Amino acid sequence: MAKPTRQPSALAAALLAWYPRHHRDLPWRHTRDPYAIWLSEVILQQTRVAQGLPYYEAFLAAYPTVQALAAAPEQEVLRLWQGLGYYSRARNMHHTAQQVVAEHGGRFPTTYAGLLRLRGVGPYTAAAIASFAFDEAVAVLDGNVYRVLARVFGLHSDIAAPASRKEFQALADQHIPPAAPADFNQAIMEFGALQCTPARPDCLFCPLQSACWAFQHGQVALLPVKSKAKAARVRHLHYLVLRHGEAVYLKKRGEKDIWQGLYDFALVETTGLELDAAEVLRHVEALGGRLDTRRAAEPAPPLLLRHVLSHQKLEARFHTVWLAGALPPNALRDTGLQAYSPAEIENLPKPQLIANYLGKN
Ligand code: ADE
Ligand code: SF4
Repeated sequence: MAKPTRQPSALAAALLAWYPRHHRDLPWRHTRDPYAIWLSEVILQQTRVAQGLPYYEAFLAAYPTVQALAAAPEQEVLRLWQGLGYYSRARNMHHTAQQVVAEHGGRFPTTYAGLLRLRGVGPYTAAAIASFAFDEAVAVLDGNVYRVLARVFGLHSDIAAPASRKEFQALADQHIPPAAPADFNQAIMEFGALQCTPARPDCLFCPLQSACWAFQHGQVALLPVKSKAKAARVRHLHYLVLRHGEAVYLKKRGEKDIWQGLYDFALVETTGLELDAAEVLRHVEALGGRLDTRRAAEPAPPLLLRHVLSHQKLEARFHTVWLAGALPPNALRDTGLQAYSPAEIENLPKPQLIANYLGKN
């Protein structure tokens, strides 16, 4: 392994030569504003560049400063985040903004160590902000960087194992040149995204080919080593879409499960798939709901939508139920259900599954 020297390492030199000729022109690469950089990194941890771009623009337009984001209502932030999934990230982002305003006078800490103390800012984000905004020589480690390092240096440690982080971080920190930390970090991520890709790396036209352990040993396809996550849990959700005239009943989801703070319909979760018409009716009656007999005479089969989360596979069936009148107050109090107009529903923060359903109906 190379010793840290004042000359850029061969890896750094190759990446820094490659980067200006191949990188994509992305808006967050034109700013040194730690707030904008932080926003971009939080969004890009959640999604790909193409999908993340409009969210980045929308957030910066709605909240041009960390003060503006901190002052925004949480519902509005969640609504703007809708479609990215993993809403706890949006909630953390909002809290971080409030922390920066309340505890740091609206200015992000200017060092890696200082940034790490912010809520929801982990080693990756702290390194990204510290290097891109403040030129600190601390290497970012994301999936792209793990892959490039594992292949170039022939590291067989399991990148899914937390213990591997130290090894990769030390290696990357050895190679990041103090004179160009921001470019090195952008370059190695971009190299992983465009050249040394997961499935079809462009090894034939790669500037690192002769220095690349995996290429020289015919092990490109075997690296990086990454153990499989355990199988996702399957959940069977039955949504009762209770409708009365124009209104639809929704409720805000509570803590300790997915989608905290987002809105969905009355929910019955079962261990098997089926919930027949009689059972649906029993649940509606338990809520004090009276069926609109004219509509109920022609029940539609429930719509099935599948939705995949990081650790769960959801099988969601939507049972439309037309009510003859409003639900009684005690049912609303017990369940948190409330009648919303279509315009109000549009503005509620909703899980993507629910938004997908509404888009089909
Ligand atoms: N993914 C995460 N951070 C990124 C960045 N700064 N540029 C491009 N893709 C990224
Ligand atoms: Fe990646 Fe192939 Fe280049 Fe090695 S030779 S760095 S595996 S693209």
